[in-house]
Amino acid sequence: MSSFDHRRYQAFEPVPMTNRRWPDQRIEQAPQWCSVDLRDGNQALIEPMTTAQKSRLYDLLVKLGFKEIEVGFPAASSHDFDFVRQLIEQKRIPEDVTIQVLTQARPDLIEKTFEALKGVHRAVVHVYNSTSTVQREQVFGLDRQGIVDIAVRGAELVRDTAAKYPETEWIFEYSPESFTGTELDFAVEVCDAVNAVWQPTPERKVIINLPSTVEMSTPNIYADQIEWFCNRVKNRESLIISLHTHNDRGCAVAAAELGVMAGADRVEGTLMGNGERTGNMDIVTMAMNLYSQGIDPMLNLANMDEIIEVYKSSTQMPVHPRHPWAGELVFTAFSGSHQDAIKKCLGKRDESAPWEVAYLPIDPADIGRSYQEVIRINSQSGKGGMAYVLQRDYGLELPRWLQIDFASAVQAFAEEAETEVRSEQIFSLFQQTYLSDEGPMRLGGYQVSRESGVDKLQAELQQGASRHTLTGSGTGVVGAFVDAVQRFVGKQIVLVEYSEHALSHSADAEAICYIQLNIDGERYCGVGRSDDIIQASLDGILGAMNRAAQQAAASAA
Ligand code: KIV
Ligand code: ZN
Repeated sequence: MSSFDHRRYQAFEPVPMTNRRWPDQRIEQAPQWCSVDLRDGNQALIEPMTTAQKSRLYDLLVKLGFKEIEVGFPAASSHDFDFVRQLIEQKRIPEDVTIQVLTQARPDLIEKTFEALKGVHRAVVHVYNSTSTVQREQVFGLDRQGIVDIAVRGAELVRDTAAKYPETEWIFEYSPESFTGTELDFAVEVCDAVNAVWQPTPERKVIINLPSTVEMSTPNIYADQIEWFCNRVKNRESLIISLHTHNDRGCAVAAAELGVMAGADRVEGTLMGNGERTGNMDIVTMAMNLYSQGIDPMLNLANMDEIIEVYKSSTQMPVHPRHPWAGELVFTAFSGSHQDAIKKCLGKRDESAPWEVAYLPIDPADIGRSYQEVIRINSQSGKGGMAYVLQRDYGLELPRWLQIDFASAVQAFAEEAETEVRSEQIFSLFQQTYLSDEGPMRLGGYQVSRESGVDKLQAELQQGASRHTLTGSGTGVVGAFVDAVQRFVGKQIVLVEYSEHALSHSADAEAICYIQLNIDGERYCGVGRSDDIIQASLDGILGAMNRAAQQAAASAA
């Protein structure tokens, strides 16, 4: 029997407030961002990141412009401890970047946390304990005073241990974990008690982080909680009020936005919202929301494909095709009336005027994307159009992004033919578009080797009458070949999509490989087909390179 019964749950009590000010506020500048990808995000992965994956993600975060990065929980994980040591010893923390580490308010953990940070120029030590009613009563069996004692003891230990390392500029952060499930007067009481130990001043501020560890209410109630707290906490001018929202109800970004309107200065979150359960608040979305309102997000998100590639390879998590701003389908229009409106707006655009195009909230080119119309071809449309016939008749399982890319060729053909497009015509067009040998670059032989977990590749490349030897390294043969081609052509190349399958319609156990590359900010698709899967992948990459070269030549002509 199902227990689906709403009477098992109770409504979240609103905050008793009358003169709330946040609804009249506007966000006029970006908050102070702190990425928690390498800690909260990492803790939530099925397979935690390897050192190489963390390292790559850390470099990306620095490149995007994050000035505060929570890099781990070094006292709880030897992996995190070693990673923090590596960053410090290899001098990988720029002067204007502050690393942050998390610790519970326990003496042994605090000691170890400071050991991990030895020699760092500046760091945030982030200490937390749970304060909510449910945790007090059911997890710790403590009353309010018992919880205050844990927090104060933790704060004293942090203060005293920090004093042993005067060469570092220390910033202290305290989180009353599960703040949203804590009585507000008690949250203020605990934070005041911690601040009484740390004695913040406007010159030496303390970060008070108010986590929605579990999102329990509508975002307006979270904003009320933040405003209520800010109005009552002592010494507000010496505090940086930080938000850390989770996405249980799907409103983590909205809660953070309203929380900033309610007076917060700082926001913690992760790229694409990776994190416990339904995730942390997604910094890419919140930053792009600001950008689309004409506010400098203080993060450089111009190369969205690179962000997605590093994110996916570090976390092994997918990005939903309709993910705000970043998903593969967010700048496509399927509906004819939308396509028509977009075409009209784009046709009339005055480049000097602010962006105003129906159905496109920003210019996709700003983040290395382009607007795509998705055409369903005439009588086939009902059954899924060309993708359906290519699958049914030729065993090709085109990924969605390739269907979108191929759609424009099919549409041009259909317009020219002015009749229904037949299955064999679609297949022949597919071969001409992606599998012809006409491009400038052709692959000769290749050799692959593996050293200390890194793949190395040497390949012979025929380009017109000349032969070249290319070398590259990376994760996997495909990564190594992309690296080799990138060095050879001197362009930035990001592997955006990769997909392969065996060709069931082929007698020779052939495989087909579909590739999408971002080459200097523009996307190109390529396809390789061979009985050797590596050969098929490398041919797919060269196919995309050749299409880029052909399109450049066509637009120059
Ligand atoms: O979600 C949370 O409450 C946390 C704290 C440790 C800040 O991640
Ligand atoms: Zn969290």
